[in-house]
Amino acid sequence: RYEKWWLTLGTGSLILFLIILGISAFHQGHQPPSAKAYVNPEQVDKIAPFNEPGLKKVEGKTWDYELVFVASAFLYTPGEIEIPKGSTLKITATTKDVVHGFEVAGTNINMMLEPGFVSEYTTTLDKAGEFLIVCNEYCGVGHHTMKSMLRVV
Ligand code: CUA
Repeated sequence: RYEKWWLTLGTGSLILFLIILGISAFHQGHQPPSAKAYVNPEQVDKIAPFNEPGLKKVEGKTWDYELVFVASAFLYTPGEIEIPKGSTLKITATTKDVVHGFEVAGTNINMMLEPGFVSEYTTTLDKAGEFLIVCNEYCGVGHHTMKSMLRVV
C-alpha cells in the first residue's frame, strides 16, 4: 500500500516546514532592528549600564553624551533630560517588562524597546527646543501616561 506512505511523507514534510517557519520567525522577527545586545529584563536594575539610568558626558568617543534609558509599565527613567544644542547623543535603552516605544516627537528618532533586548540610537541634536519622548507601542492601561521630556538648550 503506497497511499499510507505518501500520507506519512506529506504530513512529515508539512511538520518540517512549520518547524523551519517557526525557527526563522523566532530568529528574525523576535529582534527589533535597533537592538544590539541581550539583557535579562528581570535583572535590568542590577546590570550596567541600566543600573544607573541618566545622561552622562563622555570623552574620546564619536558622541558627546550617552543616555541610558529604561522603560517600564508605565514609567520612563529618566523623566527629564537636558542637553546642549549641537551635541551628539547615543541612546541606549531597554524595557523591564513589556514592549514599549521610544519616539521623540518632532524628530525621526523612533525605537521599539523589546524585553530582553538593548536598543541603540545615535543622533546629533541640532534643533533647540522641548521634545516629548512618548510611548508609541500600546503597553496597557497606563500607556498614554508614559512620557519623558528632552530639552535641547
Ligand atoms: Cu509603554 Cu505604551
